[in-house]
Amino acid sequence: MNRLKKNIYAFSLMSIALLSVQCKSDKKKDMEVTPQNKTVNMVTISKEAYGLTLDSIVVDKYLMKNEKGMEISVITYGGIITSWTAPDRNNNYKDIVLGYDTLEQYEKETPYFGALIGRYGNRIAKGKFSLDGTEYTLETNDGPNHLHGGVKGFDKVVWNASETKTDTTASLVLTYLSKDMEEGYPGNLETKVTYTLTNDNELQVVYEATTDKKTVVNLTQHTYFNLTGDFSKTILDHEITINADKLVPVDATLIPTGALTDVVNTPFDFREAKTIGKEINTKNEQLERGLGYDHCWVLNNQNEGVRLVSSAYEKESGRQLDVYSDEIGIQLYTGNFLDGTLPNKQGGKYAHRTGFCLETQHYPDSPNQENFPTTVLNPGEKYISKTSFKFSAK
Ligand code: BGC
Repeated sequence: MNRLKKNIYAFSLMSIALLSVQCKSDKKKDMEVTPQNKTVNMVTISKEAYGLTLDSIVVDKYLMKNEKGMEISVITYGGIITSWTAPDRNNNYKDIVLGYDTLEQYEKETPYFGALIGRYGNRIAKGKFSLDGTEYTLETNDGPNHLHGGVKGFDKVVWNASETKTDTTASLVLTYLSKDMEEGYPGNLETKVTYTLTNDNELQVVYEATTDKKTVVNLTQHTYFNLTGDFSKTILDHEITINADKLVPVDATLIPTGALTDVVNTPFDFREAKTIGKEINTKNEQLERGLGYDHCWVLNNQNEGVRLVSSAYEKESGRQLDVYSDEIGIQLYTGNFLDGTLPNKQGGKYAHRTGFCLETQHYPDSPNQENFPTTVLNPGEKYISKTSFKFSAK
């Protein structure tokens, strides 16, 4: 094709495109239809090398970006969200999650910053449980108890990764085969976690698992948020809402007592927005045991599937996080064990209560608690749990 023909061709294509836009906008004025919408993916995902683990496994970093400006980095080690930007009320995007700059640091010491947690998020008493008369013994890595999947939980393994896209989303699909008796758990557990970024500043997390032997499973995500984007500030001024009438109270080792208690007239009542700091230091046996909030709430409307379960708002920046989930429980952990020793991404140290986690899950120690909904997974069944984190500003 000579140049003239090319130009005529390009011009007529443009005219057709413009004409069709004109027709559409006549029909529906509020809908933005441009030729680009048809072909360009507004949410992107890219991959780069991140590092080598101490045992020489290659770790990659994926970067998801949406049209609005949200950027989320995830590494294949632990499925860790290493950075996540969110807008303030002036549309300034800032990293609002705790983490590190290097793989070395994540391998050296981390309180589960940004990580996927499995096979069992939260505690299992004395690291023991029984299924059909067989007792299983897990590692005890939290005093007398088992926490977050053991010594080498899902936060410390390298996941396989692949990407998928639609017109308005980009997804990172992570898979991991946890072998029979890994960390003491029975069954080969095929695990899949899909992170999907949308153009609504929402990250959807879908957890799936199947097993070839009866087992227990309770997966979650352990991102620490600080909506100020300034990791030298505490999270005590963040306003939290938790749509829960009841709490799972714990004993001195943070294992559920078995009761589910009303939040009314306690510092655990977050049915109306309240700052984390408002009552965190009041005299209360549960708060003393957790050294602050480190508890699972019994979420309301458990039969409704995915619904709004919790929100966090930081008034200086205007950043708001809404958590939607189909889970029955949520652990609010207010960074009570951060003690100013771990280096932060901004050159300082992560001090006491400079991040909070909202970990959707089934109740702690369910394998040993007859009255709690089951966390047992049988061969032939599929474990599926969905949570999404949506940001806005006001
Ligand atoms: C637990 C805390 C624990 C923390 C690890 C949270 O999910 O509830 O008790 O210390 O994870 O940093």
